[in-house]
Amino acid sequence: MIKRLLSRYQNLLIVLGLILTLGLAACGEPTPIPATAVPTKANTIPATIAPATNTVAVTATPVVIATAAPTVTRIPTTTTVPATTAVPVTTPAAVQNAPGEVLAFSAENAYNHVKVLASDIGIRLAGSENQKKAADYISKQFETFGLKATFQDSTFLLRVEKGSNLTVSGENTSAKVTLIYVGSGEPGQTNAELAYIAGDLAESDNFSGKVMLIQASNRSLSQIIQKIAAMPESSRPVALLIIPTQAEPLLPPNLRVAALPIAYIEQAAGQKLIERAGNETLKVTLNLKFDKSNAVIRNVIGTRPAAGNNPNAPVIIIGGHYDSVPAGPGANDNGSGTGITIELARVLTKAYPDVEFRFIAFDGEELGLIGSQYYVKQLSVAEKSRIQAMFNLDMVTTGQTLTVAGSKNLADIARTVVVNQGYRDTEIRTSTASDGSSDHASFAQANIPVLFFNRQSDPNYHRSSDTIDKFTSKPLEQVAQIMQATLKQLLSRG
Ligand code: BES
Ligand code: ZN
Repeated sequence: MIKRLLSRYQNLLIVLGLILTLGLAACGEPTPIPATAVPTKANTIPATIAPATNTVAVTATPVVIATAAPTVTRIPTTTTVPATTAVPVTTPAAVQNAPGEVLAFSAENAYNHVKVLASDIGIRLAGSENQKKAADYISKQFETFGLKATFQDSTFLLRVEKGSNLTVSGENTSAKVTLIYVGSGEPGQTNAELAYIAGDLAESDNFSGKVMLIQASNRSLSQIIQKIAAMPESSRPVALLIIPTQAEPLLPPNLRVAALPIAYIEQAAGQKLIERAGNETLKVTLNLKFDKSNAVIRNVIGTRPAAGNNPNAPVIIIGGHYDSVPAGPGANDNGSGTGITIELARVLTKAYPDVEFRFIAFDGEELGLIGSQYYVKQLSVAEKSRIQAMFNLDMVTTGQTLTVAGSKNLADIARTVVVNQGYRDTEIRTSTASDGSSDHASFAQANIPVLFFNRQSDPNYHRSSDTIDKFTSKPLEQVAQIMQATLKQLLSRG
């Protein structure tokens, strides 16, 4: 039934998805909700889990608008995470972390987890009921492996679109606009002159007080947004309107860098505006309409304590986000990383007994790394210093090259692993800007060593077509192999 509804309203969802895609809203600080142990099997039937109030239900099709996420800091382009910033490991030098019992990784198991998340459950928008179902599924897997499963909840303010539009002076008609980013702005009207830009942006351009109109065709929206962000504040436009070229336009990454409302405008209306703007000065009124609502952001944590519950044992975190954008079921982004995380939790349940493992499925990544930011924020200094490595698995199945990027010490180990295992399609890097687009960035920011596994260039990225039929279990295997070998070397260094 839900599937039927989803396919029936697919186009609508796509448009709505757009809005969310890059950015649901980060507005204000997440509010802590005490971590709760996952209810025992006896009382975990999904129906007993009270729906979080004010969550955004995907089928209710509210449009959630990206808002400023001031707490999210990307790793700056030129910054690598130097080895010297790594927090000293608390393991006494003499202690070797014996591998213990490491089970064989089954790519098929991992793939089946992806199936459950992306095909059975589907779109997992943070705060939605589907997301809670996914959280239940993941926590039950952790429990099955004998791990302690906990939910770590916080609330987060989302902005939900209510039918924004654009009117042109002297006209009675209004064009539907789909807000995809709203910064920290409030609903309201902006009256401004329209400036249509056909070519490139020059640094000296001044759009002060204007609404900028551009066509998405043949240009990098991401670059345009970055150029706007680089302009002095005094010459930035008051809003950016984008005419999409495809039925399902891709949401540009990095929306947040330009602190201004960004919206798609209906194609026909947009074309008409271009024609008219060629002949006259157009005054437009952009009506931004949205509601604010709270969403529960739920990280799912599976803990495998060290022997004797040693509270000072070194900690290894393995994880990835399990929320998706509203446009699609996020099979690759990031069912893939979540599936591997769950299977690794099984494989490592009895491994390296001197180490504490935390397997974490992060929520709210697509809203601006909300879950991982919150997780890191609540760690004490002592807790942070126990973490030897955070392995982030995000979007690992499609594209030519597997990129493994992160802190120098971990990247160096991964490099030797890749050479030894003979993977030709794998590139190792220390962190760069493009590596700041997922949950490891929250840890790197706190000087915790990170290693990020991802594959670039997914044509289905953030689309409804990000489905499981686009990949096999093979790439899941490769990622797990490299990660496990890196882990082994890291832990056997003594
Ligand atoms: N999985 C992506 C990041 C990614 C994109 C990895 C392309 C590999 C290739 C992630 O879920 C994402 O979309 N991140 C956002 C940033 C986030 C803070 C909203 C991005 O990159 O814009
Ligand atoms: Zn992702």
